[in-house]
Amino acid sequence: MRISPARRVSGSIALPGDKSISHRYAILASLAAGDSRIQNYATGADCHSTLLALQSLGVPIEEQGTEIVVRGRGLDGLRAPLAALDAGNSGSTIRMLSGILAAQPFHSRIGGDESLSRRPMGRIIDPLTRMGASISARDGRFPPLDIQGAPLHPIDYTLPVPSAQVKTCVLFAGLYAGGATVVREPVRSRDHTEIALREFGADLRVQAKTITLQGRPALGARDLVVPADLSSAAFFIVAALLLPNSRLSIRAVGLNPTRSTLLDFLAAMGAQIRILDVESRNGELSGDLLVASSPVRGGLIEKETTAALIDEIPVLAVLGAASDQGLTIRDAAELRIKETDRIATIADNLRRMGVAAEVLPDGLVIPGRQRFHAATLDSFGDHRIAMAFAVAALLADGDSVIQGAGAASVSFPEFYDTLAAVCA
Ligand code: S3P
Repeated sequence: MRISPARRVSGSIALPGDKSISHRYAILASLAAGDSRIQNYATGADCHSTLLALQSLGVPIEEQGTEIVVRGRGLDGLRAPLAALDAGNSGSTIRMLSGILAAQPFHSRIGGDESLSRRPMGRIIDPLTRMGASISARDGRFPPLDIQGAPLHPIDYTLPVPSAQVKTCVLFAGLYAGGATVVREPVRSRDHTEIALREFGADLRVQAKTITLQGRPALGARDLVVPADLSSAAFFIVAALLLPNSRLSIRAVGLNPTRSTLLDFLAAMGAQIRILDVESRNGELSGDLLVASSPVRGGLIEKETTAALIDEIPVLAVLGAASDQGLTIRDAAELRIKETDRIATIADNLRRMGVAAEVLPDGLVIPGRQRFHAATLDSFGDHRIAMAFAVAALLADGDSVIQGAGAASVSFPEFYDTLAAVCA
């Protein structure tokens, strides 16, 4: 993919549905009794992997564009898949579905692509084993997973890593356990699962960072609308902030407070972002964003802020290099076990553009006021790296090429078309 420099971005855009919310709605709708209609379901390959896996488990799902109808089978309505389930590139699919598979009265196998096959699964194998499932994995911790379901018992589990995927896995398993499953979070992670569980009728209580879920609820079908994905919007927000004379409106973006740290962080750095027409649907906030080019100061991302911004760090690294004071990112060791080692793949691409970056074991130091030079870049098969460096290429002094640009379709197949539509 060849990307030319842009002078500015402008216009009004709608983006695909939130990836995190889409996975959760599809899974819970499958376990509910009756038909759920989900509008603006995420268009990326990851959320499609979840639908294919659910279909292989016997759930009829009809897709009409971005609207899906899930014919829920009830908690005990899944059937043994005929073949191994394929989570593709999707960590969310394998980790969340494993919680469900652990409770089924059948054996299943779930794996994925080369990148997924290198991602750690010990973090879900441990709690699911404690709940009574038997799981074997390659080298004890990598996909594919062979899951022998069993009647589960509830646990009181403190998450060893801040991970919404692990939290979700345990809570989904807890749907099948008789009694109360308790999950304690050291750092608050995105809470779409808690909101969706309540929406589908589960009995769930949240007190500070402790979640208590009563097992064996009767989940009811729902009509739901997925807001646009703020993590996808982040690429356009950063482009609009950095390119002079930009003014971009992004419609109906998810503003769940456990995700919108991005907006707080950017505002604190001087970004001009207005939020209009905020509404709440299915317990999730959304609103229109109006972004205008602004000088950004830069700063430090560390501790809980790192966890809250984890998916946005690739594009924030680009912003950091163009900021006044630069950007330091700490406490981000989790970035090394995402779709790629993002600390390495961010630094590699920045350097290709002549942008200095110091690599730390748990982060990056990126000096500010740097110029981006046209370069041949590489997604390394990682969607967010492809999109972050497409934004960097807009700032460069000539045409850049992104190898493996197609990786963007994992979360955002329309990305390059939408980018071309707003660039001048
Ligand atoms: C997600 C949680 C995060 C995030 C991922 C989606 C989710 O992963 O990076 O893109 O939907 O729960 P971790 O749970 O590994 O932090």
